[in-house]
Amino acid sequence: MQVRTAVIPAAGLGTRFLPATKAVPKELLPILDVPALQLIIDEAVGAGIDHIVIVNSRTKPSIEAYFADAPEIIDKLVASGRIEMAEQMRSIGRDVRVSFAYQDNPRGLGHAVGCARDLVGDEPFAVLLPDELMGSSELLAAMCDVCVATGGSVVGLKRVPRDEVSAYGVITPIGEIDADGVIGISDMVEKPAVADAPSDLIIIGRYVLTPDVFDAIADLKPGAGGELQLTDALRVQAAVGPFHGVLRDVARFDTGNPVGWLSAVVELALDHPQYGVGVRAELERILSSP
Ligand code: UTP
Repeated sequence: MQVRTAVIPAAGLGTRFLPATKAVPKELLPILDVPALQLIIDEAVGAGIDHIVIVNSRTKPSIEAYFADAPEIIDKLVASGRIEMAEQMRSIGRDVRVSFAYQDNPRGLGHAVGCARDLVGDEPFAVLLPDELMGSSELLAAMCDVCVATGGSVVGLKRVPRDEVSAYGVITPIGEIDADGVIGISDMVEKPAVADAPSDLIIIGRYVLTPDVFDAIADLKPGAGGELQLTDALRVQAAVGPFHGVLRDVARFDTGNPVGWLSAVVELALDHPQYGVGVRAELERILSSP
């Protein structure tokens, strides 16, 4: 058994980033010079995934346009000697198979994942939320290994200060975290009050799920916010087990809001081989000016 497919839900409205997201999907907002969605696909490919299923909305056709052939751009690049960039343009959507499913209404993350059922089939699959950047494939690759070894679903975990748990899904752990950062999970709760939180371990936007989750999604009733919540389907799986989390201290950026997006851009820009030195000098100039 191998995890070969990744589902990327991208049919939401992006209301936290309006008005920018009125015409440009937040999944295509640039992280320096690359759309956030491309970084998510690169992360999945780095973890061994070879089929991407994007759950899109008919109101966001530019997501599909990003994967279309662009001969006029490539011809221009080749004619002006920019061969490396021409190759990069050619490789978009070609180094990995990309399929599209559609969600007619944004009825919640659980519903969005359920829309990918036919394209995923009867095998374990990853889910990557495209507005959370992890910076590396290591966490997802480790999660895929745990799913294959245990035969159960796996979520990505991060430890946060107790007073921050109320913004996230929080897990109820079984026992202690092992040397590889793996821990059993018996339950989880969405956005608990600090006093009620079962731990300080939050679920970050990476999941590797066994296909029985689709039956649990099909049975979902509207939960928090009237939406069909993925967490509610995962609770059904966790109740019967096995169900695990993989804990990492990742530098996670929430690019679905302006400040998180800017932090991700600055971090990536400072490390960039071409732009890094200039960006650092410019930031220092801005910060030191009265
Ligand atoms: P978010 O809740 O962060 O995205 O869902 P959103 O609803 O677009 O954003 P805000 O809160 O209004 O600003 C996480 C991911 O799940 C997708 C979103 O596109 C986003 O990438 N999603 C969410 C769906 O595909 N369908 C849904 O019904 C809900």
